[in-house]
Amino acid sequence: MSKVVVNVAWPYANGTIHLGHLAGSLLPADIFSRYNRLIGNEVLMVGGSDQHGTPITVSAEKAGMTPEEYADKYHLINKKAIEDMGIEYSLFNKTHCPTHFEVTQYLFTLLKDKGYIYTGQTYQYYCPQCSRFLPDRYVEGVCPKCGAEKTRSDQCDACGTTFEPGDLLKPYCTLCGATPQIRASEHFFLRLSAFREPLMQYLDTKDYWRSNVKAFTQNWLEGGLNDRAITRDMSWGVPIPVEGWDDKVIYVWFEAVIGYLSSSVEYSRMIGKPDYWEAFWKDPEARHYYFIGKDNIPFHSIIWPAILMGAGDGLDLPYDIPANEYLMISGGKLSKSRSKGPIDIPSVLTRYDADAIRFYLSVNMPDTHDTEFTWDDLDTKINNDLVATLGNYYHRCLSFTRKNFGSIPAGGDDPEVEAEIARTLEEYRSLLSVCDLKRGIKAALELARYGNRFFDAVKPWALVKEDKEACGRKMNSALRIAKALCVMMWPYMPKSSESIWRYMGYTGSLEEAGLDEALKPLPAGQELLEPVPVYRKVEPVKEQEETKECKQKEQPKAQEAAPAGLFADFRRMDIRVGTVVEVGDHPDAEKLYVLKVNLGEEEPRQIVTNLKSIYPREQMENRRLLVISNLKPAKFRGVKSDGMLMALDDEDLGGNAVLLLKPSSDVPDGTQINCGLEASSSRIEVKHCEKVTIKVGKLQGGKVLGADAPEGCPAAAAFVYDGDQRVPMGDGKGCYITVDSLDFTDGAAVR
Ligand code: MF3
Ligand code: ZN
Repeated sequence: MSKVVVNVAWPYANGTIHLGHLAGSLLPADIFSRYNRLIGNEVLMVGGSDQHGTPITVSAEKAGMTPEEYADKYHLINKKAIEDMGIEYSLFNKTHCPTHFEVTQYLFTLLKDKGYIYTGQTYQYYCPQCSRFLPDRYVEGVCPKCGAEKTRSDQCDACGTTFEPGDLLKPYCTLCGATPQIRASEHFFLRLSAFREPLMQYLDTKDYWRSNVKAFTQNWLEGGLNDRAITRDMSWGVPIPVEGWDDKVIYVWFEAVIGYLSSSVEYSRMIGKPDYWEAFWKDPEARHYYFIGKDNIPFHSIIWPAILMGAGDGLDLPYDIPANEYLMISGGKLSKSRSKGPIDIPSVLTRYDADAIRFYLSVNMPDTHDTEFTWDDLDTKINNDLVATLGNYYHRCLSFTRKNFGSIPAGGDDPEVEAEIARTLEEYRSLLSVCDLKRGIKAALELARYGNRFFDAVKPWALVKEDKEACGRKMNSALRIAKALCVMMWPYMPKSSESIWRYMGYTGSLEEAGLDEALKPLPAGQELLEPVPVYRKVEPVKEQEETKECKQKEQPKAQEAAPAGLFADFRRMDIRVGTVVEVGDHPDAEKLYVLKVNLGEEEPRQIVTNLKSIYPREQMENRRLLVISNLKPAKFRGVKSDGMLMALDDEDLGGNAVLLLKPSSDVPDGTQINCGLEASSSRIEVKHCEKVTIKVGKLQGGKVLGADAPEGCPAAAAFVYDGDQRVPMGDGKGCYITVDSLDFTDGAAVR
């Protein structure tokens, strides 16, 4: 067991944290911390709200609040958002706190006593009308290089030139408009120049750092290190622990990085072990990781190590600084000021589950390069990878096994499955141990795909009827994959993984079980709990809002035509009601029927079907059903088939029902089932039908599949979907499409 300190960049308390903070530092830190807990390491995870600095005083002023009120307000909002996202700090502290003042002042004094902090002059803008020194952003003017107006006094956004006080033309105070003066002001400086050599040596040992972090740091060091002013002319911040310096405070960047240490100290005091932090900060074997965004690199790879070195207190230097790039929205950095949609965490959590967001930001993590964020991509990845791959695997394994066996069946000694789990686990371990988190979740997701292929190949719904014991053995193997998945997914999606763990009948905590448990066999006889799908499909955001609007205007009537342009694939299918008039056997295939089905045409259609094992002959005779009538004819073992029967197939949802669709009322043969839409009758291929989503749901409390049931809806009804729009399947005149039995999984698809 080793000690690991997970240090997380401190978000400014001047706004609500958003997806960018999550992807950039908070989520990777939490995943890494949980991974370390899972392998039995002792983890201290610290950070908090960065509450000082000019931006906060500016915002507070605008909001008519004191800086402290303002910064505390966002501290609480962000603390809650972080908890709601399932991110577990040892302590999410804040910088406006006595312990932080104490630790900052302690280090300041220590460095000053050692000669690493000294006083000097700076030249700064001073507003004679406001009687105050003006921070960079309080002074604007004209860029001397490119002539841009309203240019801030530290840097020109238009041409990139950086300025010293006095460079800007026609400067004015943004508070009152007066022309500022340049005044000398005395400040404390950090003697960074003294640390160039030791920092170079330190960097030489970091060949495992991400290349961008290493290169950036190298460039800074090679450019020479200038001493830096570490105090400012303002009153909001950590006071300078020297007499006569009451009108200035310590610069926000100097003290914020010290927050990692002060938060560790504060946590130790909170748990009643005031020296607890020392085991993490003074043990050379303890590893310190810093999860930050790329704009924070020099503060963590140069300034903070310099402070730690200068203190000479045996404090550990950063072991790794896995800085992330940016999550981009519409090509711009995902920052509060430029965001286009509600991307702050509390808003996003009203529409998505925390684990679904964690999933998406993990597979789309901007770890080595910027990644694009779009709502569409979020929905697609949740629906296709999280729900259809991982969630589907969990659910079909658990619900099938519980339904047929009740508890974990004996067996599971399938060497191939075991090898696949072991291989994935090795890959996962090697990736997560070096913070390669995006590739880690992708490795685990591959195992879910393998699991689905395994399940499909086993065909447990058929095997259970032929040889229940053999089926049990296979399901034991399938569940081993599910178990390995939920253990490996826990750092990424803790809450849902813990649910799966419980459905498998475990009572202890998944974290305590540990990563090695992923390879261990399942205890036969352990009772399974009724599983509930842990991931939900999402509907596209924009369309959801449109639907709401349209509902307010007018509730669409049950069988009204669907909006133009939608259901295009459905309209290409010519679906007719038919009656089976003859049931024959296929001459060369035991499992096939050759049917004659009356579609109201001159002659009945000949249709070959494989439903023989499910529908005995007497149930087939005179059966009313639905036929896709415009498919190109096919041959099955030499027998022509001109049409395809439509049936619900439960398998995707873990069930095993196959039920033929039928009309809900006595409409004539040949009735077209086009839902009141215009439909084509040209010949199509099977692949066109595969694009169409038709689901069957049960009528419960006036609703079917989560939405209001149409008038006269039968106990089970089929719906055609296009995005989040749906129409009841039927003739558009009151005949619906239904099935014989209610013994199927709600939402099963027609295939
Ligand atoms: N508040 C800073 C930002 O959001 C990050 C500070 S990290 C710290 O960019 F370590 F310096 F606190
Ligand atoms: Zn002024």
